[in-house]
Amino acid sequence: MYYWFGEHKIEGKEGNQAWVGVHCYSSQNLTDWKDEGIALPVSKDPESPIVEGCIIERPKVIFNAATQKFVMWFHLELKGQGYKAAKTGLAVADKVTGPFKFVKAVNPNAGKWPVNYPEKLKSKIYPENLKSWSEEWIQAVKEGMLLKRDFEKGQMARDMTHYVDDDGKAYHIHASEENLTLHIAELTDDYQDFSGKYIRVLPTGHNEAPSIFKHNGRYYMITSGCTGWAPNSARLLVADSVLGEWEYVKNPCVGEDADLTFHSQSTFVLPVQGKKDAFIFMADRWNPENAIDGRYVWLPVQFDENGLPFLQWLDKWDLRFFK
Ligand code: DGJ
Repeated sequence: MYYWFGEHKIEGKEGNQAWVGVHCYSSQNLTDWKDEGIALPVSKDPESPIVEGCIIERPKVIFNAATQKFVMWFHLELKGQGYKAAKTGLAVADKVTGPFKFVKAVNPNAGKWPVNYPEKLKSKIYPENLKSWSEEWIQAVKEGMLLKRDFEKGQMARDMTHYVDDDGKAYHIHASEENLTLHIAELTDDYQDFSGKYIRVLPTGHNEAPSIFKHNGRYYMITSGCTGWAPNSARLLVADSVLGEWEYVKNPCVGEDADLTFHSQSTFVLPVQGKKDAFIFMADRWNPENAIDGRYVWLPVQFDENGLPFLQWLDKWDLRFFK
């Protein structure tokens, strides 16, 4: 059974905030879906970080075999603060469809250095008045100026996804440092906390909307650039292990509308169960003017003669596409 979690949207611009919660659907064939209702409701309590009117985006759920719990993490922005808080929220359930119980909201990895952060930069201090986007500022951000700004209180975590590796280790991948640098952070064995081990990926690369999958022993990540709700060109990254080093490869989209990712933005790459080398690229077509009318693009991931993934528009396809 497949379970699909998403942001429950309502009509109009108000729908860009969470007024209902995280919705869940189930399906055995990825075509016919059953509505499983609200897995995590927003709260009526004004003191709760998930009070109605907050922003909940990109919820992901993983199952922890040791604790037998379903663990949901999601991008959380506190009510009335726009996108300032940049937190990740945790909710846990005994059943996949919920009800999930909200546990906490955090800025990850407070007081921890990324494992790929050069020793010599740890003590470097930057002038406070650097002009945003000046060459000096970009260089300082690349070197970790914002990482240091947030070192004590914990790092920013906006667009996020999970990846569970073959050895059962789970990773929380999020846009950090003002969306300029991705962080890939290992979760603890119960998946309910950050272990403190994490890496920075492509500092100042401006990657959002991460999604990870593994094919033929290599790890691939598809991300987007940062243009708010508007589509932009996707990026393909590759690595030999989840904790890097990650390398930019190319825009994985080819053909018509490839520059705008077919008017969509990555959200997840789903391995199709029971089929080899079968992955579905799942993407969102946001509609911020009428949030409930946001739509989805699902395309099969194809592989070229060098084994590199690519995406091409198809008007119509089904699971027979995967042999
Ligand atoms: C781009 C992100 O990918 C979306 O999830 C959302 O946070 C929008 N930005 C908000 O502008």
